[in-house]
Amino acid sequence: MARVFSGIQPSGGMHLGNLLGALRNWVAYQQDHEAVYCVVDLHALTTAPDPAELRDNTMAAATMLLSVGIDPERSTLFVQSAVAEHAELAWMMECTVGFGELRRMTQFKDKSDRSDFVSAGLFTYPALQAADILLYDTDLVPVGDDQRQHIELCRDIAERFNRRYGDTFAVPAPVIPKAGARVMDLQRPTDKMSKSLESAGTIGVLEEPDSVTRKFKRAVTDSDNDARYDPDTKPGVSNLLGILASVTGRTPQAVADDYTQYGPLKADTADAVNELLDPIRRRYQELSSDPAEISRLLQAGADKARTVATTTLERARTNAGLIPRSPT
Ligand code: AMP
Ligand code: TRP
Repeated sequence: MARVFSGIQPSGGMHLGNLLGALRNWVAYQQDHEAVYCVVDLHALTTAPDPAELRDNTMAAATMLLSVGIDPERSTLFVQSAVAEHAELAWMMECTVGFGELRRMTQFKDKSDRSDFVSAGLFTYPALQAADILLYDTDLVPVGDDQRQHIELCRDIAERFNRRYGDTFAVPAPVIPKAGARVMDLQRPTDKMSKSLESAGTIGVLEEPDSVTRKFKRAVTDSDNDARYDPDTKPGVSNLLGILASVTGRTPQAVADDYTQYGPLKADTADAVNELLDPIRRRYQELSSDPAEISRLLQAGADKARTVATTTLERARTNAGLIPRSPT
């Protein structure tokens, strides 16, 4: 059975981009793949979040993954820092990736431009991400379009390690959905939707239905009143068409044929999104009442993940020439 791995940062609430770009594929893949999903709290440390907030956000992210339909009976769901092998393999990945390769990462450039303090961890972030993926002999990595470059780098790292030390890691491929891989901000449709949930351009997965409807109604479009899918010249309208297409499983071009005016397109997109979010919001309410049960599930997930991770790490250590930790 092919192995699937993906991760999400515990930073604030989740938004429609996370759901359409990544999480819906995570749910789909657990049906007929061996799926491993992770809340990547070590990645969140790269920007020094407040400790209490990080703890809350980690639990909230896990609760959200369960709410969207990750089934801990089928998939392995855990928190990254609970499996120490991630941090240990990350060091070996840092010694396999080039400084020049890391410097070219656009996510690093974007994030470092926006911060006063740029940690070394923010720079080596893709090495930790490669460790996450390679520890599980991953074949497929379902992510949104913004992660394409990191997955390509992970492939290069795996291939370089295998060349240096002999066959050690499976070389993974990204899985990026056709529609929904890049959900844009409703107010600034040339920027991708991101985690600033109070913003009028972001739809939170847990947001109230009225607020969702209002934000779609006020979404920035243009003055042509021509519902055509053309992300370059009509980013706002194309974003709405892309969202509705993703939610209804059609193509944006086919959706565009149904509309001559923007008003109905906005209303239908809001309704379709609310219909998608309704059961998720309800499930989140239910699950939040029992955090102890979620902690228990995460611990069981970590125990399961660790058995695979230790085997892969041991293989990598041996092939690289590190002597055994304890006599065997
Ligand atoms: P993050 O919230 O940055 O940890 O991202 C978690 C997952 O959601 C990753 O697979 C991202 O590629 C995906 N993602 C984040 N923002 C968007 C967006 N605006 N559109 C589509 N996918 C996204
Ligand atoms: N960097 C990813 C993001 O920002 C999160 C992530 C960490 C990840 N490790 C991963 C995604 C491994 C896929 C596979 O969205």
